[in-house]
Amino acid sequence: MAVGIFDSGLGGLTVLDAITKRLPDLPLVYFGDNANTPYGVRTAGNIYDLTTAGVQRLFDEGCDLVILACNTASAAALRRMQEAWVPRDKRVLGVFVPLIEALTERQWGDNSPPREVGVSHVALFATPATVSSRAFQRELAFRAIGVDVEAQACAGVVDAIEEGDMILAEALVRSHVEALKRKMPEPDAAVLGCTHYPLVEETFQEALGTEVRVLSQPRLVADSLADYLARRPEMVGTGTESKFLTSGKPRAVSDKATQFLRRQIAFDAA
Ligand code: DGL
Repeated sequence: MAVGIFDSGLGGLTVLDAITKRLPDLPLVYFGDNANTPYGVRTAGNIYDLTTAGVQRLFDEGCDLVILACNTASAAALRRMQEAWVPRDKRVLGVFVPLIEALTERQWGDNSPPREVGVSHVALFATPATVSSRAFQRELAFRAIGVDVEAQACAGVVDAIEEGDMILAEALVRSHVEALKRKMPEPDAAVLGCTHYPLVEETFQEALGTEVRVLSQPRLVADSLADYLARRPEMVGTGTESKFLTSGKPRAVSDKATQFLRRQIAFDAA
């Protein structure tokens, strides 16, 4: 059983790491679709096909609950999956809602009408597919009014991180922040809407300036999962074995994962 964590590649490890710190006894099965990363430049139909295949792999491992630790999959595929694909006894949760609840200072299950919140200018950094889906703006509009969102599609950042080229990733982040600031010179808050970006969070914060509040998902998703499991403990299942699976080359993926999380991670072929 255990809880499944899905990402197109290595980014979901930032979420896994935060969950491990928040819920150290929770067994987790990670699936990284490294053979097909990045998803952010693919069509919604293609992202849906790849995401359902990856989540099915986690169901086959015995996971009843899967977290899509990937904004691109959450934006492009989750709604369609929940409407017509996820079996009745399984759950698939995305990473958008905890972020938006934090931004709008709402508690889980607060279904009151949208209202004014503490921020009015929000910068969204995400993959091209997430930006073009407008899923973030849609979810935000259910909860808040009067928030101006400027989205910056950060082409190339995920590829550079997957390649382990952090110098390139950081240079790209600086240039995407510059581009955003030309459109919105003084954001109140910046949302890192891709689970790869916490790996370059310091560069985002430096380039944005200390006065900009940077919201990053891993801890928010971990807190939200802890809350969910307190309400639905049966979704953990009975399994005790944590594992890491990849559709890519296990040795190379393990090396990069070990470098990113600064602890030994060993991937097996999915
Ligand atoms: N980590 C994924 C996300 O949160 C990555 C995207 C990709 O594969 O382009 O959007």
